[in-house]
Amino acid sequence: MAPESPSIVILTGAGISKESGLDTFRDKDGIWSRVRLEDVATPAGFAADPRRVHGFYNARRRGLLDDAVRPNAAHRALAELEQGRPDDVLLVTQNIDNLHERAGQRNIIHMHGELLKARCAACGAVGECPDDLSVELACAACGGVGGMRPHVVWFGEMPLEMDRIYAALAACRLFLSIGTSGNVYPAAGFVAEARKVARAHTVELNLEPSEGASLFHEAIYGPASSVVPGYVAKLLDRD
Ligand code: APR
Repeated sequence: MAPESPSIVILTGAGISKESGLDTFRDKDGIWSRVRLEDVATPAGFAADPRRVHGFYNARRRGLLDDAVRPNAAHRALAELEQGRPDDVLLVTQNIDNLHERAGQRNIIHMHGELLKARCAACGAVGECPDDLSVELACAACGGVGGMRPHVVWFGEMPLEMDRIYAALAACRLFLSIGTSGNVYPAAGFVAEARKVARAHTVELNLEPSEGASLFHEAIYGPASSVVPGYVAKLLDRD
């Protein structure tokens, strides 16, 4: 059962999965340096060329399912934190990969959706999607053809479970932001929310200062697989 008001809220971004072999978006060799987000991560891009959008996400889904892509020490440390503080941790991820789940994390909100799920634009049904999506695919729920899309939140669309996220931010004592550049709202605004409403202690753990670095009480810079386990160990020892 998800905790009503966890005292620790963690936000993760693409940086936590980088050492597992998944690309980030805005690093110099990131995904948006190779493909225009307007073409593949907006409703207009999907309407204009659904085959291109399916091709983009099909390639990322196959990449995620590659045996070489596994949770790293940072994912595992956050799962250990949740196990050590049952009912006291909520992880909100911007990532659409499943590495937090595979590391053993249970209480997760995928605010930008999930790469291994598909949604029918006609009836809204969401289901597991381990294989390629295409415009020829029929919806298992309503039988409609042509409306299947990745269950991923695109720019201009509302992220998922925002009420639950803001309720947790309003009551948390500690807010951690890990592996995100702080470029995309509403996630980039969570640190200000945690400070203003909950007067929480806020910590950024990132490879380098994010756009919102000045908003954090504390910052620890370095690769996630190095800095996150050490920080979690301190939190658990303190208990
Ligand atoms: N360890 C920790 N942080 C890292 C590492 C690493 N090994 N490698 C990179 N980073 C940091 C980068 O310095 C950067 O600040 O991770 C951050 C990644 O930033 P982005 O590429 O912008 O990814 P993210 O913040 O998750 O993007 C947010 O934007 O395009 C949308 O929907 C997409 O969810 C995504 C959202």
